[in-house]
Amino acid sequence: MPRPKIALVGSGAIGATLAHISGIKELGDVVLFDIVEGMPQGKALDLSQLSPVEGFDTKYTGTQDYSAMKDADVVIVTAGVPRKPGMSRDDLLAINAKIIREVATNIKTFCPNAFVICITNPLDAMVQLLQSASGLPTNKVCGMAGVLDASRFRYFIAEKLNVSVEDVSALVMGGHGDTMVPLVRYTTVAGIPLPDLVSMGWLTQEDIDKLVERTRFGGGEIVQLLKTGSAFYAPAASAIAMAESYLRDKKRLLPCAAYLTGQYGVNGFYCGVPCIIGKDGVEKVVELKLTAEEDKMFRQSVESVRQLVEATPNARL
Ligand code: APR
Repeated sequence: MPRPKIALVGSGAIGATLAHISGIKELGDVVLFDIVEGMPQGKALDLSQLSPVEGFDTKYTGTQDYSAMKDADVVIVTAGVPRKPGMSRDDLLAINAKIIREVATNIKTFCPNAFVICITNPLDAMVQLLQSASGLPTNKVCGMAGVLDASRFRYFIAEKLNVSVEDVSALVMGGHGDTMVPLVRYTTVAGIPLPDLVSMGWLTQEDIDKLVERTRFGGGEIVQLLKTGSAFYAPAASAIAMAESYLRDKKRLLPCAAYLTGQYGVNGFYCGVPCIIGKDGVEKVVELKLTAEEDKMFRQSVESVRQLVEATPNARL
């Protein structure tokens, strides 16, 4: 049986890390695409030379030719430019939208049956555009944000309580931005919800509020430290968790930017919600009963996604 094929569109910081983890997990053969001449070829060769040390069999290809992603099973998109000083959010939106449209057209031509994960920011608008411009079914196009945001929240909780990250489970909904909604009620340490841990005296409500705030601005905190780029290890690992759940039909329940058709009262938009990911892509959007306060925060987040999408030409279906 041939190995699955994973195409990475964009071979920068996240793209290269995706390629590395795909190899270590032996998810399949990897195509690194980028517009920069030689760069994906160089990274592909470097990773190939790492594979004997790590002991995995992955064929890496670096390319500037979209046809190399023919019949890919999974496509992960990080192509785009980061926001530079002086650039408005709308400027970024226009530049990345042009790139995403081009990527979408090539996905449609070369691998219309792929499961597509978008990482490029502004995420909620870019994933919507990727779907509408590629014409792929909505269950086969989703965005990576929630796994990363939840992982940040999990880490901050584990660090605060001095417990293993393995035992912390968290759920974050809404758009990928300052309006995201970390769901404290559904965040647990080995099954014990955070509000119960407050009653047990492990942490205070004020501690939780601080952890939620730090999670909301988790990406910005890293940008400030790095100065010349944004986070790449955790975003890459998060997208790989989604790709692996698809390729191995694991049916993991992961928070992802998924297309909503009435769930949570939202119709015709991508937004961060808990989803089951298996061999059919986003197989199910899990609908939770939100409290009035959670619902209010979620609506605010949806509104900011709506504004972003409406500022993106032709993003909607
Ligand atoms: N086609 C393919 N690749 C492109 C194109 C294009 N038209 N335009 C730019 N790229 C490539 C760049 O050459 C670069 O190598 O996309 C890559 C992006 O990589 P980085 O700048 O290193 O960015 P990265 O940290 O990987 O983040 C990528 O994910 O989290 C988001 O905000 C982040 O939108 C950004 C994306």
